[in-house]
Amino acid sequence: MDQDSPKSQIDSLRAQIAEHERLYRIENAPVISDDDFDILVRRLRELEEKYPQFADESSPTRAVGNDLTESFASVAHIAPMKSLDNVFNSAELEDFDLRLHKTLGAEGEFRYCVEPKVDGAGVSAVYERGRLARLLTRGDGAKGDDITRNAFVLRNLPERLSGRNIPELLEIRGEAYMTRAEFARLSELAVSERGGDDGDGGGPAKRKAPYANPRNLAAGTLKLLDRKILEGRNLEVVFYSLGAAEGFELKRQSELAEILRGWGLPSFSWTELGDGPRGAFERICELEEVRADFPYNTDGAVVKLDDCSLHAAAGMTSHAPRWAVAWKYRAERARTRLNAITVQVGRTGAATPVAELEPVFISGSTVSRATLHNAGNIAEKDIRVGDTVVIEKAGEIIPAVLEVVKELRPAGSVPYEFPENCLECGSPLRKYGEKMLYRCPNLSCPSQVRGRIAHFASRGCMDIRGLGASAVDKLVETLGVKDPADIYSLTREDVMKLDNFKDKSADNLVSSIAASKKRELWRLIFGLGILEIGEQFAKDLARKYGSLDALMRAPLEDLESARGLGSSSKKKGGEAGSVRALSIRAFFDDPHNRALIERLRAAGLNFGSEGAAAEAREAESLPLAGKVFAFTGALKSMGRSKAKEIVEGLGARTSASVTRGTDFLVSDGKSDGDKAAKAREYGTRVLSEDEFLKMVEGARPAEGGAGKPAVSESGQMSLGI
Ligand code: IVH
Repeated sequence: MDQDSPKSQIDSLRAQIAEHERLYRIENAPVISDDDFDILVRRLRELEEKYPQFADESSPTRAVGNDLTESFASVAHIAPMKSLDNVFNSAELEDFDLRLHKTLGAEGEFRYCVEPKVDGAGVSAVYERGRLARLLTRGDGAKGDDITRNAFVLRNLPERLSGRNIPELLEIRGEAYMTRAEFARLSELAVSERGGDDGDGGGPAKRKAPYANPRNLAAGTLKLLDRKILEGRNLEVVFYSLGAAEGFELKRQSELAEILRGWGLPSFSWTELGDGPRGAFERICELEEVRADFPYNTDGAVVKLDDCSLHAAAGMTSHAPRWAVAWKYRAERARTRLNAITVQVGRTGAATPVAELEPVFISGSTVSRATLHNAGNIAEKDIRVGDTVVIEKAGEIIPAVLEVVKELRPAGSVPYEFPENCLECGSPLRKYGEKMLYRCPNLSCPSQVRGRIAHFASRGCMDIRGLGASAVDKLVETLGVKDPADIYSLTREDVMKLDNFKDKSADNLVSSIAASKKRELWRLIFGLGILEIGEQFAKDLARKYGSLDALMRAPLEDLESARGLGSSSKKKGGEAGSVRALSIRAFFDDPHNRALIERLRAAGLNFGSEGAAAEAREAESLPLAGKVFAFTGALKSMGRSKAKEIVEGLGARTSASVTRGTDFLVSDGKSDGDKAAKAREYGTRVLSEDEFLKMVEGARPAEGGAGKPAVSESGQMSLGI
């Protein structure tokens, strides 16, 4: 058949889309961006409309519903939806308890409520006058996707609340999950629907697990657009925390589950109290014993300060409450067969051996690949293809091969030999170090070029929408793009030459490339792909130096003094710091990199400004930095805008309403409206005008001096009253 005929184009698109759907939903390993996926679906839809004779009920355009590209509306949460910080051992749990004692200045043991940590997808349900009004995903914590139309898939979510004293407005947080039984049912169904073959001609269906794990399947299901598929799946929800509740105050966390059940909302049947970190630890151990009996997967325990009246004073970080912490269970291990060893060359040229495994369910997900780290590790453990190996996985951590079960080694196996040449470009691999690390030395190796550009464009770096891995492949192959600077000279006409790019998608890509020029400096620093420089360190460098030029000029000693900044505790210390400093210096001293940077400058990218670092440092050291003020009623001594100007000048932010993140409500004492009610609900400190004036007076720098901060070293606000 003619390869360019409409029919063969349609067939090819259907096959591509089905494969990408499978990689995304089942393997949990998408290889193209959502935008690229949408482009494929759009192209298929156009062809199907033009050639209705090739219509097919099983086409992915039908299977995924007609509104696939329509995203869910984004809706603000009433109270921000925070996450949790993790602890992994009892020492870290004790540190958490100690910090809490310090923050609250309390004596005696705290009582903790220990709950299961459900491994699902966070959701927030809003009930207005007892009726379900909205169901949102967690989103970015401030706003979530409005998935109300899919709420019916949560089979135990009531549309109406029952019982007594139901708050007028209730925002309640929980976890949507798929029971293990439902996961097994759907997996079996998927296998049998494939008719015993996995469709790739590679053998029996059982070799490939149809879905990655219950959590991903639950999260994917919540966002499905096709009602038919939704109807065939069952999820459940369990609630564990309050967002907003009008006219209701929770006294103890341990009372919440029963209260919720009283309103007809599903909650935990297992929660236990423990005194102090030791008591909490005992409960955590008990939970570990029984968690296998729960119908859902758990990946840990959540330890919450039971006395809710202390929550507001304990406060929040930008990411998590300080009054709760997640205890993550130890990694789980499993045995499986090593089918093959492949080698992946990344953007830095590092050639990493990967174990291709007989799929095995472990720690809540199906694992079919694991890292083998390096050739030294393979040699040391004598890992051979055909071996039965022990793999370990903890939460999101990449699974790794721990050891070989030598007794089960098949006869005739041979030691593994690392390839001598890069499988992508054929260059002889360079071997170095005791661990026998291999690196492809060819900077122009297509694997490295693709990897560097994809990293630069990725969401975590310059966030160029529409430039996912497959679009990058096309740019490199078809247009000869060689480095990130080349992206900025692409024209609409260039992009139109790529498969699957049409008027609209080409316009979108060109405008998202242009938009990326304004990204924050840290994104550019991270995107350059300097060895050893991750996101956090890039942020620290941007803050310290303020501009790319200042960073490029920085002498080695100055860079070394930045060591430890943002580094994980493990990496803290001189060695990691100087390795990073050397890496930065080497990067900027390289004439090729300098040329690349000049081309990025010429393209108009944001390189930061010389004054930015000083400004940032100054703002952070201001006495009210990080505090949030709201105002209600009229102040006698000044207008509200003056009051705002004063607190902002001292580093604080102001907000129009009172949320959980508000530290102070300045009140004239007469107004008792919504803000005062919210302040009571969240335990926000209410300041009279006098108290406010004393606070800002105390925080203001004294004439000619540094002034006496109103915030103590522990970060506690001292009111000076
Ligand atoms: S409390 C402000 N309790 O774990 C309160 N979260 O890794 C924050 N989770 O984002 C959440 N079980 O989606 C809480 N018993 C539980 C939980 C729980 C699971 C999820 C939640 C959170 C994530 C953090």
